[in-house]
Amino acid sequence: MKAVAYQQAGPISAPESLIDVELPRPQAGGRDLLVEVRAVSVNPVDTKVRASANPEGTPYKVIGYDAVGVVVEAGPAARLFKPGDAVWYAGSIARPGTNSQFHLVDERIVGRKPTSVDDATAAALPLTGITAWELLFDRFGVPEGAPVADPSRAKGTLLVTGAAGGVGSILVQLARRLTGLAVVGTASRPETQAWVKQLGAHAVIDHSQPLGPQVAALGLPPVTHVASLTQTEQHYAALVELLAPQGKLGLIDDPKEPVDIRLLKRKALSLHWEMMFARPVFDTPDVEQQHVLLDRLADLVDAGTIRSTVQRNLGTINAANLKQAHALIESHRVQGKLVLAGW
Ligand SMILES: NC(=O)c1ccc[n+]([C@@H]2O[C@H](COP(=O)([O-])OP(=O)(O)OC[C@H]3O[C@@H](n4cnc5c(N)ncnc54)[C@H](OP(=O)(O)O)[C@@H]3O)[C@@H](O)[C@H]2O)c1
Repeated sequence: MKAVAYQQAGPISAPESLIDVELPRPQAGGRDLLVEVRAVSVNPVDTKVRASANPEGTPYKVIGYDAVGVVVEAGPAARLFKPGDAVWYAGSIARPGTNSQFHLVDERIVGRKPTSVDDATAAALPLTGITAWELLFDRFGVPEGAPVADPSRAKGTLLVTGAAGGVGSILVQLARRLTGLAVVGTASRPETQAWVKQLGAHAVIDHSQPLGPQVAALGLPPVTHVASLTQTEQHYAALVELLAPQGKLGLIDDPKEPVDIRLLKRKALSLHWEMMFARPVFDTPDVEQQHVLLDRLADLVDAGTIRSTVQRNLGTINAANLKQAHALIESHRVQGKLVLAGW
């Protein structure tokens, strides 16, 4: 089967940072599905692994986590899916990735692909959708509830930094459509600001300017939740300052310097880490919740409640196009998601 892989971790500019290879097609056992991969998206984690993790015990390392495809084999213990089913998922960082024509995945972290969108459009959502869902509902514990038309009457405000990126673009939609919170996103350019507004944010502020005065000027309810999605080390002090007492601060990125949790004490703020690979990597008793939430997300897409966050389709899945995607992501200016489809 075709795959895109590397032998030596390093910068994307290295000639062999990603290469086209032929690998043996795997076989499904246990609760695994063998999926024929039709489309993928690229996430910042792909670039971080490629830059830092060498292959272990195999000549090539295949990365890529988001996938949309069709089940071609189901392991003997599989009971959620059968050959022919169209599926979407974000896989596990502990296993070979989805940048391969055929891919093994545990069915407990797989959902049905939405029927109303094509493979490339769907591929934008699984990894960021799981992250945003788990942060909002499982880590913050925000209750689902009717959206508020008038944000000044909301019970609290969610501030999302980096709201135009992959995770922000789905988090803003989930918070706006499925909760009663007022939703404020940050974006620094006219096009990303317009995108965050289109996705449903009640207000957009600029993360290249001081955040506190901009939030205060909105006249919204107190900031009860902050999702610090990127460049946390740059915004941390301001986010702690603008959070209401007993508020919740959520992190998903890799701060370049340690953040000082002592700053959270005075207002009794709580810190919530989201790590979307934690359930599959540690095989937690509730790992199948990712199957449940991906099915729920597919329903929301098919109902027109949530839209895909795809921005660009970079073409077929090969080393040259994946290199372009990695370089764009490393620029930290991607709006929505980059996808690739076909081989
Ligand atoms: N823990 C987990 O489970 C998990 C899951 C997914 C992602 N992540 C991590 O979360 C981070 C974000 O992921 P992502 O996919 O959303 O990233 P992304 O799509 O690459 O984010 C790009 C966005 O970041 C914004 N941005 C750039 N500089 C910024 C700054 N200084 N302050 C605030 N925003 C800034 C840009 O907005 P403008 O162009 O408007 O400036 C751009 O739209 C990454 O580090 C990723 O690895 C973690």
